[in-house]
Amino acid sequence: MTAPLRNSDPITVDVALAGRAYDIVIGRKLLAGLGQRIAALRPGARVAIVTDETVAGLHLAAAEASLAEAGITASRIVVAAGEGSKSYPVFERVCEELIGARIERNDLVVALGGGVIGDLAGFAAAAVRRGLDYVQVPTTLLSQVDSSVGGKTGINSRHGKNLIGAFHQPILVVSDTALLDTLSPRIMRAGYAEVAKYGLIGDADFFAWLEANWRDVFSGAGAREHAIAVSCRMKAQIVARDERETGDRALLNLGHTFGHALEAAAGFSDRLYHGEAVSIGMALAFAFSAQRGLCSSADAERVVKHLTDVGLPTRIDQIPGDRPDAERLIELIGQDKKVRRGRLTFILARGIGQSFIAPDIDVADVRAFLGDQLR
Ligand SMILES: NC(=O)c1ccc[n+]([C@@H]2O[C@H](COP(=O)([O-])OP(=O)(O)OC[C@H]3O[C@@H](n4cnc5c(N)ncnc54)[C@H](O)[C@@H]3O)[C@@H](O)[C@H]2O)c1
Ligand SMILES: [Zn+2]
Repeated sequence: MTAPLRNSDPITVDVALAGRAYDIVIGRKLLAGLGQRIAALRPGARVAIVTDETVAGLHLAAAEASLAEAGITASRIVVAAGEGSKSYPVFERVCEELIGARIERNDLVVALGGGVIGDLAGFAAAAVRRGLDYVQVPTTLLSQVDSSVGGKTGINSRHGKNLIGAFHQPILVVSDTALLDTLSPRIMRAGYAEVAKYGLIGDADFFAWLEANWRDVFSGAGAREHAIAVSCRMKAQIVARDERETGDRALLNLGHTFGHALEAAAGFSDRLYHGEAVSIGMALAFAFSAQRGLCSSADAERVVKHLTDVGLPTRIDQIPGDRPDAERLIELIGQDKKVRRGRLTFILARGIGQSFIAPDIDVADVRAFLGDQLR
């Protein structure tokens, strides 16, 4: 783990994918220099900014001013905020508007927004003219530490989330950490669950550092840049080893098997944000690991304590509204994950920072565990 850096120093994390390597630049107030970076990277390129209505109201003017200052011609495509924009009709509109704005092979798409915009604009960039380059300017904590790293793009199908898409890596990611100051505390906390996840997957020192410094991550002190950089670095390393998720990349799903089932049970609604579901899912994954004698119950309790300290839920009964039963959750897990002969793959832990892929977990054990949790 590297020492925290001063506020004013942007941190660069490089994503080392052969032929498609790119930089993630992380720092406060980087939006002002976006135009300069783009002009240096792609002189003469036109730009189309894809963003959502909420982000447009807060940060689009600054992004456009920065591009104009660098002499870049930019158009804008503004879609409704929210998951509903990861749909065929909105995808079609974005593609048609990119073509209408005469964005060509040498030009750039800029995705200014959270994970929804990154996934939507990235997929449109992958499809229009068989592939346009794009730059991500993630504006939520979740998108700065997770969705902007790794090149997964896409939209939702009526059969499920993210079922239509492409791997398409950006050519640059500019993470302006000051943009997070306008996020609601609840959305910020939900994104933080993914930050904690990196510590729990493979970096016990980072988790201990978060236990001591999480308040500064939220308040926007220099700790925020450090936390984002460590997170990106870990995801970048895992993705570089396994871009298409045939092995190690599955570790990033810690907490997500339980989490996705809980999200589905809550109807993918405001009752439970993705990061909140992951928080409960990680607490459950550690409790399940402890029950199986894989990790100490002290570690499982430490996970719960930290997530609770920051204000995240860790128990199923903290989800407002109807509570799903164990049977329903097992059914939802089965829809999300391949179950072969009553067994499925889980991400479990031998301790904090020691997660591993457990390929052969008996569904009956999971059902019994969930039954206990819900009692
Ligand atoms: N591609 C990947 O690898 C990957 C990984 C994880 C998640 N995702 C996807 O990311 C999406 C979730 O991302 P998200 O949580 O960023 O959601 P989001 O993009 O919907 O943003 C959440 C809300 O915050 C608002 N917002 C964004 N930036 C803001 C800012 N700076 N200030 C105030 N409000 C702001 C948005 O308008 C939206 O209402 C999901 O669709 C998920 O599937 C993708
Ligand atoms: Zn996630």
